[in-house]
Amino acid sequence: MNRDKISIIILAAGKGSRMKSPTAKVLHTISGKPMLYHIIKSSREISDDITVVISHQKEAVQEQMSSYFNNINFVVQDAQNFPGTGGAMKNISVKNEKVLVLNGDMPLITADALQNFLDNDNEIIMSIFDLQNPDGYGRVIIKDDKVQRIVEQKDASNEELKVTTVNAGVYAFSKTIIDKYIPLLSNDNAQEEYYLTDVISMAKADGLNIAPLLVDEENFKGVNSKKDLADSEEIMQTRIKTKLMNNGVIMQLPSTIYIEEGVTFEGECIVENGCRLTGETLIHNSHVKAGTVIEDSIIKNSDIGPLAHIRPASYIEDTHIGNFVEVKKSSLKGVKAGHLSYIGDAQIDEGTNIGAGVITCNYDGIKKYKTIIGKNVFIGSDSQLIAPVTIEDDVMIAAGTTVAERKIEKGSLAISRTKTRTIKDFYYNFFSKIKQ
Ligand code: UD1
Ligand code: CA
Repeated sequence: MNRDKISIIILAAGKGSRMKSPTAKVLHTISGKPMLYHIIKSSREISDDITVVISHQKEAVQEQMSSYFNNINFVVQDAQNFPGTGGAMKNISVKNEKVLVLNGDMPLITADALQNFLDNDNEIIMSIFDLQNPDGYGRVIIKDDKVQRIVEQKDASNEELKVTTVNAGVYAFSKTIIDKYIPLLSNDNAQEEYYLTDVISMAKADGLNIAPLLVDEENFKGVNSKKDLADSEEIMQTRIKTKLMNNGVIMQLPSTIYIEEGVTFEGECIVENGCRLTGETLIHNSHVKAGTVIEDSIIKNSDIGPLAHIRPASYIEDTHIGNFVEVKKSSLKGVKAGHLSYIGDAQIDEGTNIGAGVITCNYDGIKKYKTIIGKNVFIGSDSQLIAPVTIEDDVMIAAGTTVAERKIEKGSLAISRTKTRTIKDFYYNFFSKIKQ
């Protein structure tokens, strides 16, 4: 079906009280992006006419989605007077002849899964799946192979609660159905809400055929609680990592690795167990060792970790980063920083070695300052570089030095060290022992 014949409406106005959270439900993240982002992204592959219904925390929802997408229509639900999924549809005027209505809490929905609703010209298509535990979902009452109605859990009789065929929460309607039945919805039910699902029984009463579309839970899972959120995260992570491995990334124990949606890989990369890669990170021909965290950074031809932390806006190329090294907003090219360092707001050039325990002191309690280190510099262990500071090429900093100057000139040695004093037999005298 032609994309300009399709309108998509995403219901994202609900409170989501079962999440027990101050954050709007649709803004909870899966693999680093809000749930609603994932739904809009899949919807975009099918249509350009996308309307998101908002109400609860509407400013936050609109602001976040506008940072990812242009040309989304936002419609505000009058949730006070017209609560519920049917209430959410009350303010909508539909543009195109086929309308897909999606719940905003189904982050796993794919464009392929939505496509199935469009290869079908019934006036009403609803998604169903069978669940061993249908708890929380609306039950679909089917008689003589025909859908009769949807009963919400709170309105269901004991008999109806036993039904395991449930409403998955995606519908395709023709425009005429929406225009006719949404104004007729009432709130005569246990929750005193306007249920979109009542369109089904009204249309049925008018003799219309409701076409059920059997879908799989993996794509249509609704997120109502934090347990659902965690379960959906696992499914999304499996998808992301499977795709990456199919594209050539080596992963050891992938079930222990977390990789966000915006992370990309190039060339031959290895990611060991227990790593977390977030944001818009790019890994190119690199080896990320066990327990490493990399956030919003670029890593090229390098090995990082085990147990390193690369914080946002770092650029690391041809570099070795070892264990317990933290790098923030720094650029390192051709550098070795093997152990226990903090490198923040720094720029470090080729051939430079950062000894164990080196710290860039980039913060004076008010402002952050830069550390610039040139080529072939040797920074001895346990040195502190008090920023702002420039260390020119070919400099040696002796172990244990605190560099408080603004600049160390090319070719020099910087050393700040108190001379070692030795007091003979101090130990034996102090502990009143006799030397053997
Ligand atoms: C809904 C269906 C249920 C189905 C389930 C599938 C209804 C009445 N019930 O139940 O049959 O099995 O989805 O996941 O539709 N929303 C609004 N405005 C509101 C209320 C909700 O926009 O006033 C939005 C929510 O933000 C959410 C979506 O609609 O994204 C679904 O609402 P939710 O409360 O989660 O519905 P369920 O109880 O899960
Ligand atoms: Ca839901």
